[in-house]
Amino acid sequence: MRSIFTVTDIRPLASGVFAITFDAPELARAATPGQFVHIKCGHSRPLRRPFGICDVRGDMLTVAFEVRGDGTRWLAVSEPGRRVDINGPLGHGFSNPDGDILLVGGGLGAAPLLFAARRARGRVSAILGFRSDANAILREEFDSVCEDVFVATEDGSSGLRGTVVPPLEELMKTKRFSAVLACGPRPMLRAVADISESAGVKCEISLEERMGCGVGACLVCVCETQSDDVTKMSRVCRDGPVFDSREVVR
Ligand SMILES: Cc1cc2nc3c(=O)[nH]c(=O)nc-3n(C[C@H](O)[C@H](O)[C@H](O)COP(=O)(O)OP(=O)(O)OC[C@H]3O[C@@H](n4cnc5c(N)ncnc54)[C@H](O)[C@@H]3O)c2cc1C
Ligand code: FES
Repeated sequence: MRSIFTVTDIRPLASGVFAITFDAPELARAATPGQFVHIKCGHSRPLRRPFGICDVRGDMLTVAFEVRGDGTRWLAVSEPGRRVDINGPLGHGFSNPDGDILLVGGGLGAAPLLFAARRARGRVSAILGFRSDANAILREEFDSVCEDVFVATEDGSSGLRGTVVPPLEELMKTKRFSAVLACGPRPMLRAVADISESAGVKCEISLEERMGCGVGACLVCVCETQSDDVTKMSRVCRDGPVFDSREVVR
């Protein structure tokens, strides 16, 4: 569904990272965790920009974004009242498994996992990895919806020093999860998938690719996937962005 929605709030989460909220009842009603919205960032720009849905509260839908180029610079100077053209919710999200789940997010990849935590059916633990304390986002929000939250920073300025891998290995030994849901950089996703699969736990990963149309027509976003030993090209925008980790060719 494509429509015009009004910005109600924009706030900084870290340097160059913002959470922007839209009054978007239709999107909020239809959205499920792991899906994304495609935002027209500027009236003269033909291409939309994809952002994972970070949170839904009532009629309000929030995305968290980092300023990278022209589109996100345009979005960052939004003020309440700005009207923005959004298409969504798009893509195939997380499966919302029964039982206790573990979320693993790296950097901005933490954002769509907040929505997954809010909608989870069982208890939720989260491991969030950031470069440093200054880059850490959404900690209070995760604390309010998760049973346990472990933060790891590469420079040790907050939480555990290092990546998400050591706390993930530890939790896999001490707790039982029905699934691991992960979003973040590719090397982190590979490690999370390897560790979860070795422990016999289902793992769902959210992929990011450059996108064009966002609806399956242009094939800009294809990635290699496999099932039953057959390899094929899948569209991240339509078949994903969330895939079972065993399907994604690493
Ligand atoms: C399914 C999906 C969900 C996403 N969710 C989020 C989110 O929740 N928050 C967020 O901040 N970003 C997210 N992104 C990335 C976001 O779409 C890009 O950062 C944004 O499109 C950049 O637009 P721009 O016009 O500012 O930058 P551009 O001028 O288009 O690019 C600036 C720089 O960013 C790089 N870049 C642009 N798009 C991508 C991409 N898809 N993957 C990797 N590098 C890219 C470019 O190579 C360039 O170096 C998501 C992308 C996808 C595909
Ligand atoms: S972005 Fe066009 S097919 Fe995925």
